[in-house]
Amino acid sequence: MNELLNVGEFLDAAAAKIDPAVWCYFEGGAEDEVTLRENLAAFSRWQLRPRMLVDVGEINLETTLLGATVSMPLGIAPFALQRLLDPGAERATTCAAATAGALAVVPTLTSYRHAELQAAADGPRWLQLYVQTDRARTLDHLAEARETGYTAVALTVDLPLIGRRERDLRLGFAIPPEIPLHYGTLVDVDPTLTWRDLEWIRAATDLPLVLKGIVTREDTVLAAEHGVDGIWVSNHGGRQLDGVAPPIDALPEVVEAADGRCEVYVDGGFRRGSDVVKALALGARAAFVARPIAAGLAVDGEAGVSRVLELLRDEIALALGLLGCTSPEQVSRAHIQRALS
Ligand SMILES: Cc1cc2nc3c(=O)[nH]c(=O)nc-3n(C[C@H](O)[C@H](O)[C@H](O)COP(=O)(O)O)c2cc1C
Repeated sequence: MNELLNVGEFLDAAAAKIDPAVWCYFEGGAEDEVTLRENLAAFSRWQLRPRMLVDVGEINLETTLLGATVSMPLGIAPFALQRLLDPGAERATTCAAATAGALAVVPTLTSYRHAELQAAADGPRWLQLYVQTDRARTLDHLAEARETGYTAVALTVDLPLIGRRERDLRLGFAIPPEIPLHYGTLVDVDPTLTWRDLEWIRAATDLPLVLKGIVTREDTVLAAEHGVDGIWVSNHGGRQLDGVAPPIDALPEVVEAADGRCEVYVDGGFRRGSDVVKALALGARAAFVARPIAAGLAVDGEAGVSRVLELLRDEIALALGLLGCTSPEQVSRAHIQRALS
């Protein structure tokens, strides 16, 4: 693992190691994968504007997310079925995040129970929620999350239906029945969920609420009017509606529409520390990564995830310093421009 220098090399190593009929699930996107590719390509259309002769002798990456201090403006996005890559699965990713002082967002489709994760890792954790058709099951899930130390709920809103992932169909990927899923399944996700149900969720838990999967100013305004605590700009890693704009391009309109009423986060295609710094410049409070973490988990379990987080942390610190900033808060809209050609 030590010879792997960056996230791209981790992804290549994971692809070489994991059975293609399994890795397709982690790597792939929906239909023609236009959005999957654009998520990555979009970063090169934004250029940084570094300032010189700034004292960057001491760089501190710490920030707060919904009031909780984290060691860097990068967290682990929720991704399902981690046990397909390593038996440590969500326990390994949550422990690696805790060791790094980073935020871990645990998926509804975890194979470990929340109490097991709480016992294993003493770090900040949010719950990713899929509302199940059986609402009683979701109420139980929220109650359990409250009891096991979660500090926020990230409600995923971009999966009322499951995107058509043709790599999976081609290679015959199916969720192995032996993976225990205690809190819900994708086929039981409730497709009738609407804005009115946010009140129901609000009544069911006093944890702060983040909406994951918002990409328009219209929905940002509605989210803010419904009093959400955070908006997470995301297109589900290009796995849902193909043809959606890359999150880094949707971010400015969401930040503008949020108008400081709630925190804004972003994920999708982040592979370098400089990508994270671009998101900060466009007004995100933090970025999240899923496939880079999946690659770390596949290559070397918890140690692999720790290494990926360490590489990204070092890259963020370097990019920040070269930009002429010593903390995430110092990065501003003046540090970025749309590519001129
Ligand atoms: C294999 C895989 C499984 C995912 N499962 C979930 C999930 O269960 N819930 C969810 O909200 N998002 C899920 N996502 C989306 C991620 O949270 C995230 O939005 C996206 O993958 C970020 O892009 P990146 O993989 O390029 O970093 C999944 C993504 C992948 C790649």
